[in-house]
Amino acid sequence: MAVQINPSILSADFARLADEAKAVEGADWLHVDVMDNHFVPNLTLGVPVVESLSRATDTPLDCHLMIEAPDRWAPQYVEAGAGSVTFHVEAAAAPVRLAREIRAKGARASMALKPATPIEPYEDLLPELDMLLIMTVEPGFGGQAFLDIMLPKIRRTRQLIDKHGLELWLQVDGGVSASTIERCADAGADVFVAGSAVYGASDPAEAVRALRTQAEA
Ligand code: DX5
Ligand code: ZN
Repeated sequence: MAVQINPSILSADFARLADEAKAVEGADWLHVDVMDNHFVPNLTLGVPVVESLSRATDTPLDCHLMIEAPDRWAPQYVEAGAGSVTFHVEAAAAPVRLAREIRAKGARASMALKPATPIEPYEDLLPELDMLLIMTVEPGFGGQAFLDIMLPKIRRTRQLIDKHGLELWLQVDGGVSASTIERCADAGADVFVAGSAVYGASDPAEAVRALRTQAEA
């Protein structure tokens, strides 16, 4: 699978979201962090903003739901225009049913694991998913330091995906930058979320290109 770079608009200027989305055209997906101040101790945006953003950019939206009750909310993000919807397994009541519902509505279904959540109990669920997200920070905030201790989990997940001959993408999110992306790629990740490393750069589009080159190396 080709490398994909997904800038996270959490590190963008929220008063200029349409322009900030345009600033990273050339990226594969725009990563949209939805936080509800319950699942994580931070609050960002919801369905109406995703609806507007999907009209404002041609880049497909990769919505990462850090919210309670994703079973109730995730389908609404597909209707709002998201091309991929990620729910946290720690919050989902019925992850298989939810993944099937997201797919049936026409989006890619993705499941996220917080750092302390192991992959092994979910091996049998992998065929139900289009992407698995391994968090490399505790979710809630941009700009945190990459957790090196997640590299073995990325490696084990890649082995499981390959063992079952699955096509699903393996995404990493949190602290991904020029100094950590190569380690993630080497461990088997192929989709890279980067917030501060892209929007903190003087030229965000160039930062995306540089990250891609590094991940492909
Ligand atoms: C954190 C979010 C991330 C965040 C990453 O909970 O899920 O997507 O934007 O930001 P950086 O790349 O700065 O760690
Ligand atoms: Zn995220």
